Amino acid sequence: MGDESPGISRRGFIGGAPAALAGLAAAKEAFAQSMRDIESLPPAWHTDEGYWAKIRGKFLLQEGLGYLNNGTVGPTPKPVFEALVEYWRMMAENPNENSAILQGRSDLIRQKAAQFLGVAPDEVAILRNATEGNSLVARGLELARGDEVLLGYLEHDSNRQPWLLRAKRDGIVVKEAEVGTPPKSPDEVLKAFEAGVTGRTRVIGVAHCDTVTGTFTPVKEIAKLAHGKGAICCVDGAQTLGMVALNVRDLGVDTYATTCHKWLCAPAGTGLLYVSRELQDRLWPNIATEDWWAHKDARKYDRVSRRPWPVVAALEDALDFQSAIGRTRIEQRVRGLASYLRGQAAAIPGVRLYTSNDPRLSGGMTSLGLDGVSPLRLREYLRQRFDIYTAERRKGNRYPADPHGVDGIRLSTHFYNTFEQVEKVLSALRELASGKT
Ligand SMILES: Cc1ncc(COP(=O)(O)O)c(C=O)c1O
Repeated sequence: MGDESPGISRRGFIGGAPAALAGLAAAKEAFAQSMRDIESLPPAWHTDEGYWAKIRGKFLLQEGLGYLNNGTVGPTPKPVFEALVEYWRMMAENPNENSAILQGRSDLIRQKAAQFLGVAPDEVAILRNATEGNSLVARGLELARGDEVLLGYLEHDSNRQPWLLRAKRDGIVVKEAEVGTPPKSPDEVLKAFEAGVTGRTRVIGVAHCDTVTGTFTPVKEIAKLAHGKGAICCVDGAQTLGMVALNVRDLGVDTYATTCHKWLCAPAGTGLLYVSRELQDRLWPNIATEDWWAHKDARKYDRVSRRPWPVVAALEDALDFQSAIGRTRIEQRVRGLASYLRGQAAAIPGVRLYTSNDPRLSGGMTSLGLDGVSPLRLREYLRQRFDIYTAERRKGNRYPADPHGVDGIRLSTHFYNTFEQVEKVLSALRELASGKT
């Protein structure tokens, strides 16, 4: 196993018929079997392309496709996908009993997820995505008319609309910190938030890594700022889990909502919400059903009755998959690809980089535009000529309020991507910049 692996546990089963338990044990054994060839490689391997090619071989991505859009949704690795299929089979074969067996994995998964986040299991709720976590926080806090919530400039709608809804409904006031694109330093970002805080600020809500430019926010310093003013800091971490080796405790924030189907490559419909022990008494659950009150910890936030337990159960395998590689190793790979891309792209005439190459301000996402070339043309050129798939980030497209005029594409480079794919992006930019196409 890799450096920080919580291990592929065969414990944690709850009681059940032997046949049902055998189904789960077989799925876990098949998962372990398909991971063996990458776990047994000596450490020296782990830095070179051969190792990453083996990891890439664990994905079901279409032959030749350069998928550079983990920022929207990530691919499920084959061992995780196969486990997921087995779990659905278990549900079809013996719905109630097997449902209970899969649901019975929840606390073990919570434990593994907590280890990934660097927090305690009783501070973690298993939800569907970051949108649900952000909404739960915005809806569940006690806020009075006139209380202020300070947001970042480029928040995803899932961390803006829930607060705007409360503004409509309860008369809270939503403000935004004005940050440059890209900011020149973490201090510039911090100062923008300092300038936005007033005596009525109760919450600072901000993305750890924004969805438009992939810029990292100094959330640790912003949390200190919030606490110094008697406010709390609620972070939208949809883009960070599985991209960088997180330690949410160290960040000192009050809540942290994340999604597992982006950089963690878990099946779609998995997310986590961290709520500090101190805040749990003051944050109400959104959905209430039987026995929610009996849970004196973050489990009260994920009592939502029946859910697709195979999907939740496969979250364990996605966590195990990345643990087998190692979170630090993944971060290094992600940063290596992204900083190479940004460094080379910066030298191409006409390229506008919206993402800083300062490692304190960026991770695995890069937004860029090209003078005289529309984002749509750039995106299609990459797709048609090089089979590279990216996301558009253009004016008026979902972010009409963006005052900095981000007008380009967003590229996510994950551990299964290659330098060859990055070179293809650079070739496309050079060809388009030369005007000869
Ligand atoms: C910063 C940020 N927050 C929230 C979300 C929403 O994520 P989900 O759709 O998984 O809830 C996204 C998705 O792109 C995002 O980039």
